[in-house]
Formats: sequence, structure tokens, C-alpha cells
Amino acid sequence: MSGKDKLRKFRENESFGCLLQPANEDVIGKIHPIRGKWHEQMFHNDNPIVVELGCGKGEYTIALAQKFPEKNFIGVDIKGARLWKGAKYATEHNMTNVAFLRTRIEFIESLFGPCEIAEIWITFADPQPKKAKKRLTNPLFLNRYRNFLSPDGIVHLKTDSTLLYEYTLAVVEQNRMTLLEHNNDIYGTGRADEILSIKTYYEAQFLEKGISIKYLSFKIDNGSPLIEPAIVL
Ligand SMILES: C[S@@+](CC[C@H](N)C(=O)[O-])C[C@H]1O[C@@H](n2cnc3c(N)ncnc32)[C@H](O)[C@@H]1O
Repeated sequence: MSGKDKLRKFRENESFGCLLQPANEDVIGKIHPIRGKWHEQMFHNDNPIVVELGCGKGEYTIALAQKFPEKNFIGVDIKGARLWKGAKYATEHNMTNVAFLRTRIEFIESLFGPCEIAEIWITFADPQPKKAKKRLTNPLFLNRYRNFLSPDGIVHLKTDSTLLYEYTLAVVEQNRMTLLEHNNDIYGTGRADEILSIKTYYEAQFLEKGISIKYLSFKIDNGSPLIEPAIVL
């Protein structure tokens, strides 16, 4: 993508009502005004809110929102040119149950309040082989998510990475959280139903290379500070 193309998308992003792009100074060490008010200010209903972290171009967020009009969906990513695609589609199709949020996931607690979110999807996140602390299922991140997930909230992870899959299983086990499901080849085992077979941009590329797609879901139902697994992955 040329620099010109990116700038055009950034400019167009300013016009999308479904896209929130908070300035860093409004989220670092501060509570953003929308925190705790997504239902009221963005969606104008009380339906459950589902968040996709690292949503890229927003394929999962959009497809889930089309399948579940009785829920609201927020795709979160830091890359504006990727979010543009999802925000443009949602705008052009008058989708009222979709929003996008441009921010670093590290700042997410400034944007979501206690029990505001019902479910989290993490789709094809970078496995960060050398930096476990940057993995989106690291205990540091799960401690953050717990602060805004409802008590029976669910985290779903879909990944091409054996490392991220096994690491996340180890985090769940180490912290005695409830593992709801795990499957290391959802297409090969016939598990990919109408929800799990929604394909993101990255997923389509991994599938073309013959890489198996893994899925697991769990609850962050441990009130103690969450810790790294004893084994190093
Ligand atoms: C490998 S891509 C996957 C995108 C999409 N889920 C897909 O499957 O096509 C990972 C995405 O996560 C975003 N991301 C990674 N770390 C992030 C962070 N700390 N805060 C916000 N976004 C992040 C990147 O910008 C990128 O778009």
C-alpha cells in the first residue's frame, strides 16, 4: 500500500461514526469518557458486547455481527489502514451493531469498564516467540481483560501458532482457570462450524499453506493475580 493510499484511508477514517480513535493522551493513565458507556453511547441498546482483539481488517467482527444481530461487536487494532476496511464496510452496510476501536491493547482498561464485555475473540495474534510478555494471552493481558469481562465471560483464541496455542493452554492450566474447549485442528476434525469457519485475512493465508488452525476457549475465573506457567514456552 502506498503512503498516499494510507493517508487517504486515515482521512476517511475520521468520517466513520463507528470508528473510535482515542488520542494516546486520553488513554494513558486516564479513563476515557466512553468507558462504561459503550451500550448507551455507541450501540443505544443493552445487548451483550463481544470484542475482537487484533482484528486487523475486521473480517471476524463483521461476520459475527451479521450472524448475531442481537449482540454488539467491537474490533480493536492499532493499525488504522487495516481498520479502515472493516469500518468502511460497516458504514456502507449501515451496520448498527459494529464498532471499531483504534488503540493499543495495552491501554484497553481505560476504554472498557467492569463487566462491560461479554466475550473476547483473539484471532491470529502474533505468537511473539521471543517476548512472552507481549502475547495477547499472557497473564499480564489476562489480568487486564478480567477487569472488564463479565463474570461468566469467555475468551476465544483462534490461531495458526502451535506455540501460542500450547502457551495459552499452559497459562489456563497454571492458573486453574476453566478450559471450555481445545482443538488443534478445527478443519481437520470437522469442528469448524458456522462460527469457527469464518476466515480472517491472515487465516486464509495460513490455510493456503496447509497450516492447521487451532482453537481454544476458557474463562478467566480465578480472582488471584494470574501468573506465567511454570514451563517455559
Ligand atoms: C497477525 S495480525 C491478525 C489480524 C486479523 N486478526 C487476521 O486474522 O487477519 C495481528 C493484528 O494484531 C494487531 N496488534 C498486535 N498487537 C497489538 C496491540 N498490542 N494493540 C493493538 N493491536 C495489536 C496488529 O496491528 C495486527 O493487525
